[in-house]
Amino acid sequence: MPAKIIDGKAVALEIREEVKLQVGELRQRKISPCLAVILVGANPASKSYIRSKIRACAETGIKSIKIDVASDANEQDLLDEIDKLNRDTHVHGILVQLPLPHHMNEERVTQRIDPAKDVDGFHPENVGKLSVGIDCLAPCTPSGIPELITRSGISMSGKHAVIVGRSNIVGKPMMNILMQKGEKANCTVTCCHSGTDHLANHTRQADILIAAIGVPKFVTSGMVKDGATVIDVGINRVDDLEHSLGYRLVGDVDFDDVKEVAGAITPVPGGVGPMTVAMLMKNTVQAARMIHHL
Ligand code: GUN
Repeated sequence: MPAKIIDGKAVALEIREEVKLQVGELRQRKISPCLAVILVGANPASKSYIRSKIRACAETGIKSIKIDVASDANEQDLLDEIDKLNRDTHVHGILVQLPLPHHMNEERVTQRIDPAKDVDGFHPENVGKLSVGIDCLAPCTPSGIPELITRSGISMSGKHAVIVGRSNIVGKPMMNILMQKGEKANCTVTCCHSGTDHLANHTRQADILIAAIGVPKFVTSGMVKDGATVIDVGINRVDDLEHSLGYRLVGDVDFDDVKEVAGAITPVPGGVGPMTVAMLMKNTVQAARMIHHL
């Protein structure tokens, strides 16, 4: 039987409705949650992500500020913008869209953001808190995955989750999130990466397989156990002259092949992507609540 298609758009909408209610509660306390997003340069994919983040803010009642920094600006200009936002008491969340131009150091930039406003959860203070289980702002993409799975009626506790990819944005925080106690985690976790020998031997053990590699259609049916839940984090642009945009989006999973063996699978687009934006809204509200000691 082909896999159940996990509907990321529907689950993201559910979360955004919950965020809307929380925004209303904050407004009653005269707190207006506000997210500042910084775009350096004009990378088309980054511009598109920022547009959807700003649209989601408008739809959930979160105020947004967009700051454009020229691609040839120096790193100090960007750090100065971050300092201003750190000081601005009306701003609760700060996000610098990655990747940055090569002449800017992502580590220095990420570490400049006040950890209390770090809605991406990339600051080492938040990374550390996540790893020891202290309440914190956690990265949006991996945070959305347990929500997506459990809200689709699939249990996670006790399952073997195999992650493919060890990035700071997805793979590493995903390990910490899945290992936590609680119904939306409590997994046995394996993390594979480009240095893993006999990769398919590991992925075939997965009850939950999370692909975050950045290679189009990398995961094929031979790498997946019958009935597994397959979560595709990849968003790869591949040339397609038949498409009006000249490209189409493809995940890290060969969807048509894997859906024949998986029990459940996320599509691209419409799976993990919308969840990342919804979790960013959730983190912005969480930051506003924490800053105001609620
Ligand atoms: N670029 C790709 N994913 C992300 C993300 O989650 N946050 C930021 N700031 N940049 C990204």
